[in-house]
Amino acid sequence: MTESQLDPEILRAVIARELTGARQRTALLTDSVDEADLVRQHSPLMSPLVWDLAHIANQEELWLLREVGGREPMRPEIDPLYDAFEHPRSERPTLPLLPPEEARAYGHEVRGRVLDLLERARFSGPRLLGDGFAFGMIAQHEVQHDETMLITHQIRAGSAVLTAAAPGPAPADALRLPPEVLVPGGPFTMGTSTEPWALDNERPAHQVDVAPFFLDTTPVTCGAYAEFIADGGYDDPRWWTEAGWDHRQRAGLFAPLYWSRDGGQWTRRMFGQTEPIRPEEPVMHVCWYEADAYARWAGRRLPTEAEWEKAARLDPATGLSRRYPWGNADPSAELANLGQQFLRPAPAGSYPGGAAPCGARQLIGDVWEWTSSGFGPYPGFSAWPYREYSEVFFGPEYKVLRGGSFAVSAVACRGTFRNWDYPIRRQIFSGFRTARSAVLSPELA
Ligand SMILES: [Fe+2]
Repeated sequence: MTESQLDPEILRAVIARELTGARQRTALLTDSVDEADLVRQHSPLMSPLVWDLAHIANQEELWLLREVGGREPMRPEIDPLYDAFEHPRSERPTLPLLPPEEARAYGHEVRGRVLDLLERARFSGPRLLGDGFAFGMIAQHEVQHDETMLITHQIRAGSAVLTAAAPGPAPADALRLPPEVLVPGGPFTMGTSTEPWALDNERPAHQVDVAPFFLDTTPVTCGAYAEFIADGGYDDPRWWTEAGWDHRQRAGLFAPLYWSRDGGQWTRRMFGQTEPIRPEEPVMHVCWYEADAYARWAGRRLPTEAEWEKAARLDPATGLSRRYPWGNADPSAELANLGQQFLRPAPAGSYPGGAAPCGARQLIGDVWEWTSSGFGPYPGFSAWPYREYSEVFFGPEYKVLRGGSFAVSAVACRGTFRNWDYPIRRQIFSGFRTARSAVLSPELA
């Protein structure tokens, strides 16, 4: 959303486009499997797909029809079933969930009424309606579940049901890129007070001083990660934090999730198909502990969240923070790998047009990038529109991920967007890049 899109008629069209696009993806992800697959729980970490389907509709009804439109609940008896806070994922298959056809019909009914509401909506007055925020929040919610459902597809056993084109090869200059780029020291504006659909944890904008540092030009690749494995990285406690080493041993980690050894080479399972790993592709499905251990092995560290955002947003020519690494324009297929257009990250060094002023590529899209930071509120944070969106998760037990993945839609991806998860999680489309400080500490200087 840019300021020029805030004209009410343009805004109405943008909202309709985002809601419709999200629903097409939801339909594809849930129509591509049979009934049994829809109601089955593929992992205790995930909901049955049919839960996501009705939960998307229930949240849309709650926020748009009831909160914005002032309507009575359509099916109040199902609200508790689809309240993510009442039932953890592991418990959801035991609930009397709507069967697939009923869930689809409910979603269809809600969406019809929402589009009627949108026709007449005025984007002013109550804060929830200002700049169409509630509609934007619901569009983001649905695409976030589209990513969650794609994770379920990746976990699901059985033959492949999803197909997509493959990203093109890396551009000719990818092999000549410097391995790291310098991000100059000094203050920059982190977070936002102006992005219309930014969520509460991205607000408000505030100044942060960041010392100069070097950041990997691209995310760490499968090839580089395989070297860490080959060098005994998983067997050497020197590279792991105490908690990380403990987890590595108890969980029996030896490679990224979905990787296995086939004779002399690594293969991996991707959406129901097994293939040799592609050395040039960003590594994916690693937990924070693995990312952190790799960085230590490489003599480096994970970037802090502030470092990541500064690399992605600061325009040194103006001193201003951009919405995206390439500027303020919305993402497009030429700039970043987003929106499940491909079902994999693009080779490292892709998307030169999407590079940040510092020269780093693929900060937006491809893989979520672990940072070293815990998840906390910015100075001046206030929970909105509900505490459970962010505030209840604040704490060092969660680590922040940045930049979005190939599975995220543009509407839920921007330079300020913050994701968070436990450091043991690896079913998510998570990768990382490493950093090092550019200034030696006084003792070393
Ligand atoms: Fe949700």
